[in-house]
Amino acid sequence: MDPVNNAETGETETELEPCYVLIPKETRCKKKEQEKLSGVVKNVHRKLRRKYREVGDFEKIWREHCEDEQTLSEYALAMRNLADNHWAKTCEGEGRIEWCRSVCQEYFQDGGMKRMLEKDEKSARLAMAMSATALSDQPYSSSIPRSVPQLGKMRLLDVGSCFNPFLKFDEFLTVGIDIVPAVESVYKCDFLNLQLQQPLQLAGDTVEAFLRQLRSPIDALPAQLFHVVVFSLLLSYFPSPYQRWICCKKAHELLELHGLLLIITPDSSHQNRHTFMMRSWRVAVESLGFRRCKYIKFSHMHLIAFRKVSLATTSDLVSRNYPEMLYIPQDFQSPEEEDYTDVPVQARSDFEDDQLAWGFMELPDTPYDSDSGESQSSSVPFLHELEDPILLQS
Ligand SMILES: C[S@@+](CC[C@H](N)C(=O)[O-])C[C@H]1O[C@@H](n2cnc3c(N)ncnc32)[C@H](O)[C@@H]1O
Repeated sequence: MDPVNNAETGETETELEPCYVLIPKETRCKKKEQEKLSGVVKNVHRKLRRKYREVGDFEKIWREHCEDEQTLSEYALAMRNLADNHWAKTCEGEGRIEWCRSVCQEYFQDGGMKRMLEKDEKSARLAMAMSATALSDQPYSSSIPRSVPQLGKMRLLDVGSCFNPFLKFDEFLTVGIDIVPAVESVYKCDFLNLQLQQPLQLAGDTVEAFLRQLRSPIDALPAQLFHVVVFSLLLSYFPSPYQRWICCKKAHELLELHGLLLIITPDSSHQNRHTFMMRSWRVAVESLGFRRCKYIKFSHMHLIAFRKVSLATTSDLVSRNYPEMLYIPQDFQSPEEEDYTDVPVQARSDFEDDQLAWGFMELPDTPYDSDSGESQSSSVPFLHELEDPILLQS
């Protein structure tokens, strides 16, 4: 490079040549292939949403979708390829499975559940002491269950399991179900149409034996069978919030009291961009008899853990419109806008700026928070807005 004399300053500058970064051909090919595979997956989701917008009848659309074997098997192949040849190497998709595993271990095996139940008990005593019930001398009945290691393995239902990522972990007795299993160990089952039966009144090891003898396809399962239900990248597959709601309701019924529902949903935007949406999900899921106990945002997804705290669900579902609260941004986007949102850099709207501002006000010390057992949303000043995020969106 030749030094150049700067006429104004009299100093000598070095003229910089353009610098090109060489990306190895193999990496470029891998990236292209990965984009192609995720394109297959995204297109299936988009097609479903477009049909839902056009036709409106989600049951009809779902029936037709489940009969479209070619699309379904292309999807399963693409997902498996992504999992085997792309995510496993870059750790991109793998983190979510490890997160689920560590949440379950901490909760069931390392005393997390016991600690949370003790906190619940403390709060309940406090509440009773402050209410008239305390005066009637009713003792608080605590029901801290035995821990799972005493009972055996953690019974985990992975809905939309595709390639059975939990099978490799010994601490779980995994039941993977999917409308199109990508591997043999996953049972064929449409969770939306799964029938629920009376709970089994059996000892833990007999329940394990029952699970080990399951056969494909699964059309029905007894209630209160599992310690953990996982929805990893499942809910955004559905074009309607109501279908997401049905899934959460079924998960509630399939879980034992104090069991965990782990929801992972994709979102590549920054942590606070969809704060309202995550709040809305929390209110909706908690209304079913859950309480949120963990939340974290990875760069491409939200990961939330809810524990089942009650057998009953909130009865006032109609006026509160809880199912609609399980919305995703794509529910409000036209196909063209969806294409646009694939572009990584976007300007924020005023609405999103507001969201961001509220997000900062509510920001925890660390992104990984553990519930105190009290409803955090009750301290939020904009609870009324929160209760109808759909209206706000429009
Ligand atoms: C995006 S993939 C996620 C796969 C895997 N859980 C993961 O985290 O990589 C969504 C999966 O959900 C499955 N699925 C969609 N609707 C379902 C339903 N009603 N019942 C069972 N599985 C379903 C799809 O077939 C697909 O394999």
